[in-house]
Amino acid sequence: SSGIDKELRAPICCILGHVDAGKTKLLDCIRRSNVQGGEAGGITQQIGATYLPVENIRERTSLKAEATIKVPGLLVIDTPGHQSFSNMRIRGSSLCDVAVVVVDITRGLENQTIESLDLLKHRNVRFVVALNKVDRLYGWKTCPNAPIAKALKNQSDDVRSKFIWRVTEVVTQLKENGFNAALYYENKKIKEVVNIVPTSSVSAEGIPDLLLLLVRWVPEIMMERLTYVNNVECTVLEVNKDKDFGTTIDVVLINGALRKGDQIVVCTKQGPVTTNIRYLLTPYPTKKLKAKAVYKHHEELKAAQGGLRHAIPGTALIVVKLGDDLEQAEAAAVQEICLVVNEDESSGSDDGTAIQEMSRIKTCKEGAYVQASSIGTLEAIIEHLKSLSFEIPVSGCNLGPVHKQDVMKATAMLKRKEEYAAILAFDVKVMPEAFDLAAESGVKIFVADTVYKLVDSFTDHIKKLKE
Ligand code: GTP
Ligand code: MG
Ligand code: NA
Repeated sequence: SSGIDKELRAPICCILGHVDAGKTKLLDCIRRSNVQGGEAGGITQQIGATYLPVENIRERTSLKAEATIKVPGLLVIDTPGHQSFSNMRIRGSSLCDVAVVVVDITRGLENQTIESLDLLKHRNVRFVVALNKVDRLYGWKTCPNAPIAKALKNQSDDVRSKFIWRVTEVVTQLKENGFNAALYYENKKIKEVVNIVPTSSVSAEGIPDLLLLLVRWVPEIMMERLTYVNNVECTVLEVNKDKDFGTTIDVVLINGALRKGDQIVVCTKQGPVTTNIRYLLTPYPTKKLKAKAVYKHHEELKAAQGGLRHAIPGTALIVVKLGDDLEQAEAAAVQEICLVVNEDESSGSDDGTAIQEMSRIKTCKEGAYVQASSIGTLEAIIEHLKSLSFEIPVSGCNLGPVHKQDVMKATAMLKRKEEYAAILAFDVKVMPEAFDLAAESGVKIFVADTVYKLVDSFTDHIKKLKE
């Protein structure tokens, strides 16, 4: 109001919605990448952050150079839509400033759409609805990259009335779930009524509308909240373990700056663990999810804010313990900052208890052994096992490559309950000695590229044993 713009940080925007609504494709469309095409089974199985710098947004919206955008960019968090991944939807929705709920216009509200709406309601998070796949309306004539008003003008009366009918249907369903909503260009009460933006992630129709709405509306409703402050504020997104890094923690840097040598504190259920930053690293942006990344070293990293031309985009951090050979390590997320912390001060524990301390995983005496690359996927697999009609308990779990010790633990089931003498391994390497020991002892190791296939092959095995 004084005319002096405060320095704003990038808003954190979480993408939520039912499986296959087009969340990942929408992001691909905006950043011209093809993450979705590389996903096993076409499904997202991890939570990931990606930064959309203001230049990217300008380009996609064809904004004139003199038009101001108050935020330096958007930090977007993609989440999976499959049922078993509710842990990641909860995490995403609890750390974001705003959300985009993606709804397939041909299907309307579905189970995980409603679950997502409940999460947002519960946390009081403002959101917009991207009513996606408009190009799938029968008879739709695509008009690549067009704003939605222009795209609609291009349609026959028949297609337009079908469109209106679908929109009305979704508005009614949202109302049934406690939200008043309207097409954003007809919305007279943007403070109270949820904006609906029709989009297509294939033809990019409506994408300019969605981006413009986000960069204009978000600072308008939460100027104070987005004002950059110097205090470090960051939240854990995921805990991983990979063969090159050891234990890594992805966090989102919401505010403030981190420097090499800084002391940081990571919370566990056992209490805070203090360590310090050995290296600050960012991977060069990649357009593929698991592409080999080369890391860049930094002395200091700041959360994205206006005015700082060389500030590091907003962003997800990784806290790396036990790191060596970083140059050759694989990057798990699209855009992130890596922190390498001092090894000796880390409270490393390899028996799975540390994982249980950091998650909601509960184990019991008789059950299968689960191993994955991240806590999020570990939780999703265990959640899926629990949801089966014949619930499968879990006796132990671990992060990272399957070693001999893991097989040893699973052998305990050979005497107790043979069908559970198995390791379900997801997105991790199985060491040759582990394979050999498993073959010798009779422990079965299952490997698959989606958690659903993994659990299916295990349950098929159990069924065969019972026959
Ligand atoms: P999960 O991450 O598994 O929950 O799915 P998602 O919501 O990320 O959906 P995804 O991006 O994987 O898209 C699902 C399928 O819908 C893919 O085959 C996409 O190509 C397709 N799709 C997504 N958006 C559109 C769209 O706007 N139009 C059309 N025709 N197809 C789309
Ligand atoms: Mg996806
Ligand atoms: Na999908």
